[in-house]
Amino acid sequence: MKIFKHIVLLSLTTSLLVAAGPKKVEKELASVIKTGKRGSKMLLQTLGKNMKKRMKNGGVMKALDFCSNEAYSLTESVNKKLPNGVRVKRVSEKFRSPANKPTADETAVLKSFKEMQKSNIILPPYLVQRVNKNTYKYYKPLLINKKVCLKCHGNIKDIDLKRAIASRYPIDNALGYKMGDLRGAVIVTVDRSK
Ligand code: HEC
Repeated sequence: MKIFKHIVLLSLTTSLLVAAGPKKVEKELASVIKTGKRGSKMLLQTLGKNMKKRMKNGGVMKALDFCSNEAYSLTESVNKKLPNGVRVKRVSEKFRSPANKPTADETAVLKSFKEMQKSNIILPPYLVQRVNKNTYKYYKPLLINKKVCLKCHGNIKDIDLKRAIASRYPIDNALGYKMGDLRGAVIVTVDRSK
């Protein structure tokens, strides 16, 4: 039953869009999707590249230092490169960093991703949510899709690493994941009035 509620929610977005006239809507959506793809790719590549480098040079402890000290500022540096009115971030219902806590409208979409997974639906590469007349949110679902993610988000056996994470994040929700689990999403907010 729940899944239907979410599909209704998503198709409501579509009907709002259709009301604005098909040609205009298509154009608007295409531009939001293009911006969303670009912004999410930029963030994931930047974080991924830097994490890999730290992991290779200093192992998981160095990579942890990198995530907790630099993920936020690197995200801001990507945001500076994006056009006015466009912002990118990562969110998770089970966030590790409070900076990545989703808003209520974002939580609704994350929950619908989870419901889809429960019904064995292969998640789409992205979804678009219309927030208001000028603002859209592009969501790219993030899965635990590499073994390396489990080093810091799985059931951690390395005591030193476990301690290091707990001392940085006393209230950590981002443990105990398995391969294929939904970890969260990258969200690109596009405000077309700017
Ligand atoms: C070296 C440890 C480490 C590894 C490996 C790692 N993460 Fe994280 N992750 C963190 C830390 C620390 C944070 C919190 C700081 C931040 O990045 O904002 C975090 C945050 C996140 C967030 C933002 C939501 C939140 O919980 O704050 C997502 C999404 C995420 N990680 C996904 C992944 C995925 C997917 C992988 C595998 C490709 C991965 N992580 C690998 C340490 C790690």
